[in-house]
Amino acid sequence: MNDSAPIKTAPAKPESALKKQHLIDPEICIRCYTCESMCTPGAISHDDLNVVVDFAKCNYCMDCISPCPTGSIDVWRIVDAPYSLAEQLTWTEVPAQVDFGEAASAITESLDADVGALLEKAHSGTGGKPIAPASASKPSVNLFSRAKPAIATVQGNFRITAASAENDVRHIVLSFGDTVFPVLEGQSIGIIAPGTRSDGRPHDLRLYSIASARDGEKRNANNVSLTIKRVDGGVASNYMCDLKVGDKVHVTGPFGATFLMPNDAAANVIMICTGTGSAPFRAFTERRRRAMQNAPGKLVMFFGARAPEELPYFGPLQKVPESLLKTHFAFSRIPNQPKEYVQDRMRKVASSIAPMLLSSSTHIFICGLKGMEAGVDEALADMCRANSLDWTKLKPDMRSQGRYHVETY
Ligand code: A2P
Repeated sequence: MNDSAPIKTAPAKPESALKKQHLIDPEICIRCYTCESMCTPGAISHDDLNVVVDFAKCNYCMDCISPCPTGSIDVWRIVDAPYSLAEQLTWTEVPAQVDFGEAASAITESLDADVGALLEKAHSGTGGKPIAPASASKPSVNLFSRAKPAIATVQGNFRITAASAENDVRHIVLSFGDTVFPVLEGQSIGIIAPGTRSDGRPHDLRLYSIASARDGEKRNANNVSLTIKRVDGGVASNYMCDLKVGDKVHVTGPFGATFLMPNDAAANVIMICTGTGSAPFRAFTERRRRAMQNAPGKLVMFFGARAPEELPYFGPLQKVPESLLKTHFAFSRIPNQPKEYVQDRMRKVASSIAPMLLSSSTHIFICGLKGMEAGVDEALADMCRANSLDWTKLKPDMRSQGRYHVETY
């Protein structure tokens, strides 16, 4: 079992009456539905509030475990009567493990061992489940839901790619007014577009990374900023990109308990992103600037975009002093120039990055297009090979120490 929830007692049961049940922790889950898309037996489903596992369909294949970015998928209970889907859909937290007494201790132990072995197998290919940086602050999660959202007011909405750019990317500031909505750098919020889908159901929740620091877009303001790209036909992105100052927005969350800024001022943070994947790194950089002046740790960012005019915050980023943040841009569509991706740029500056990989204070964060994951991984592996390091060993070590974080879509 992976949590420390208190144990409730129940009348002793014969061993044969007990089973293991796979569940999802609604407090940590960020509703990305990756698990659902990976679930071959079709056991995982969701409604507007929760993602749930059908006991009758789950075959413990564990395909859903490693892709989960938060570890919320990793919840197990020994049960006599499995929790139904209807019950799970109402949860705001997973019920405590029931104590079935002495008679059941053998089966409890064997089921625990069984789950442990399955999890080990599931994590072995990926280097373990995501873990927050050891020095990260404790995040608040799921304070507001679709049923009880926070109502935010739009304070600003402006374009941060050039007028001539193909990508319409916007910087949107939402104020929470008197509502307490605590966030940390790296967390996301959920937005629900008003209206309904063609089938009459409410629109899906969409998650957006917070681009501002924990103390607000401006210091001590109770607001957050988001970096949102208008997607052709996208309900939530068009709703957000069209918002006017003063409009009200329903917000859920905050979400995310592992992709978090380390508080350790000595932490080196290598941030690798494309497009709007830069949002959390804007938050990280601003946090360092405000809270950790003269931090000994380095911030290094690799940022990929089609061209400078398509790169969100290109102008402001160029004004950030190198002593705070070293930026490496990679552009893929500049006329008469070879295509360059973040992984190509990483290879070009390998001599400055490889020594950082040797340090146990170094964290890697990757955010943006899913497609870049493999290329970045190969670049890191090459860098390691050239510097007597073994990436196949270092990556799982970094992951298990909360120093390797991926959020791609
Ligand atoms: P490309 O020009 O090949 O599309 P977007 O502007 O669509 O948000 O994309 C952000 C950047 O990510 C673009 O430069 C895009 O290049 C680049 N990109 C696309 N695929 C990959 C990949 N597999 N690895 C790294 N970067 C990628």
